[in-house]
Amino acid sequence: MENDNLIKLAVEAKKNARAVNTGYKVGAALLAGNNIYTGCNVEHSIADLGCCAERIAMFKAISEGENTFEKIAVVGGFGDKVDSTLSPCGACRQYILDFNKDMKIVFLKNGEIVEKTLKEMMTDIFDLEEKKK
Ligand code: THU
Repeated sequence: MENDNLIKLAVEAKKNARAVNTGYKVGAALLAGNNIYTGCNVEHSIADLGCCAERIAMFKAISEGENTFEKIAVVGGFGDKVDSTLSPCGACRQYILDFNKDMKIVFLKNGEIVEKTLKEMMTDIFDLEEKKK
């Protein structure tokens, strides 16, 4: 799937966001195996119970039995807006790292679609698998 189409699916998924606390809506579209799993942030009246869009997309894929995770697109903005720049939060980066350190992250930066690997976006990572060696 082309990056612009993955971004479009993320924009579509963003519409379902439940941003009851911050008003900030995020959408994600994950390519895993031959399938696409979308996610949106789901906030909760008990703030700690909320979850980011990227992790919701990951949860959906994992719970459907996927075990290869290739690429994830993410967009965000208040209300119906789509910000010209947004990249995944640190918690989501760390989360995804467990599954694929070379995961491709597709996001908007100054209005342009960019693709980077997690490795490129994170330095001096905590990697338990490395510690076990
Ligand atoms: N959020 C995401 O869903 N993904 C990110 O990578 C950044 C932040 C959500 C969490 C919260 O519901 C809202 O955006 C504001 O932080």
